[in-house]
Amino acid sequence: MRELKITPIRNGTVIDHIASGLALEVLRILRVRQLDRDSTVSVAIRVRSGKLGWKDIVKVEDVELEPRTVNAIALIAPTATISIIRDYKVREKRAVDLPPRIVGVLRCPNLNCISNQAEPLESEFEVVGRRPTVLRCAFCDRRVADFLRHLA
Ligand SMILES: Nc1ncnc2c1ncn2[C@@H]1O[C@H](COP(=O)(O)OP(=O)(O)OP(=O)(O)O)[C@@H](O)[C@H]1O
Ligand SMILES: [Mg+2]
Ligand SMILES: [Zn+2]
Repeated sequence: MRELKITPIRNGTVIDHIASGLALEVLRILRVRQLDRDSTVSVAIRVRSGKLGWKDIVKVEDVELEPRTVNAIALIAPTATISIIRDYKVREKRAVDLPPRIVGVLRCPNLNCISNQAEPLESEFEVVGRRPTVLRCAFCDRRVADFLRHLA
C-alpha cells in the first residue's frame, strides 16, 4: 500500500528522491526562479526511502519546471527524479540529468570574466568533474563548486 506523506496535487511537479537534507536548497532554487508564481509548495523532509535510506520530497502545484531550473536542481540534488502530474496522474517521470554544458544557470565568480561584462552574453560552464560536480567557466576557466551562491 502506498503511503502519501503529502496531499495529492491535481497539476504540478514532484521532485522526489532528493538526498535527505537538500530539500531546502531545492526550495531556494525554486524560489529564485519562480518568485512571481502563486503556487503552493509542499515539502517533506526525512521520508523513508528504499533506495536512499532517507530522502526529501518537494511538490509544487501548477508549475512545470523550465529546463534551466531542472539543470540547477541537477547541480545540487543529482539523485532527484522529476514527475509531472496532470489531473492527479503521473504523466512523465525522469531522473534529473546534468548536461555536459550548463548555460545561463550560474554567474561566473570571476568578476572580470567576459560573461559578467557584456550583455546579453550567457554564462556557460563545462562539467569537468562528477561526484562531486565541478564546473569550469567556458570563458575564463574559473572553477565553481559552490553552486548555490552563484545561481544567476
Ligand atoms: N497526484 C499526485 N500528487 C502528488 N504527488 C504525486 C501524485 N501522484 C504521484 N505523486 C508522486 O510522484 C512521484 C512519482 O509517482 P510514482 O507513482 O511513479 O511513484 P513511485 O511508484 O513511488 O515510483 P518511484 O518512487 O520509483 O519514482 C512519487 O513521488 C509520488 O509520490
Ligand atoms: Mg516512490
Ligand atoms: Zn568566467
